[in-house]
Amino acid sequence: MADDWKRLFAAASAARKKAHSPYSHFAVGAALLLDDGSIVSGCNVENASYGLTVCAERNAVGAMVLLDRKPVACAIVVDSEVPTPPCGVCRQVLAEFAEPGLPVRSRTLGGDEEAYTLGELLPHTFTRSFLKPRAPPAKKSRRG
Ligand code: THU
Repeated sequence: MADDWKRLFAAASAARKKAHSPYSHFAVGAALLLDDGSIVSGCNVENASYGLTVCAERNAVGAMVLLDRKPVACAIVVDSEVPTPPCGVCRQVLAEFAEPGLPVRSRTLGGDEEAYTLGELLPHTFTRSFLKPRAPPAKKSRRG
């Protein structure tokens, strides 16, 4: 696993260099290790219409969905004083695909690191299990 984290942080770091963050100047790279051993990555992509910004983690999830795989580890690289955890929206999006035990690690350019699990970051997750199967719609009678 140590080697996987090395590969994962290398991918997150490379992705961070591609960040489009002219407004916040807060460049983020994220990488996901997938269940087949492959790695996908993403960077944050900001927009002049600020609210349209997409975080690095969610862009990595989009790349993963194209491959039909599941995440087994997540690495984040940030240029900040302290390692930063994924935002709430990204936690929820990761939880759509990952187990609560998903290990998430965040690292600064200086090498400081924090480790979490997704379940710690997002307890009491709203998942598809709460969406009860709906009864099929009643057939319309011809006579109304
Ligand atoms: N950002 C991420 O890409 N990931 C996070 O987990 C936190 C925030 C981005 C969004 C925005 O482009 C910039 O960092 C500042 O919030």
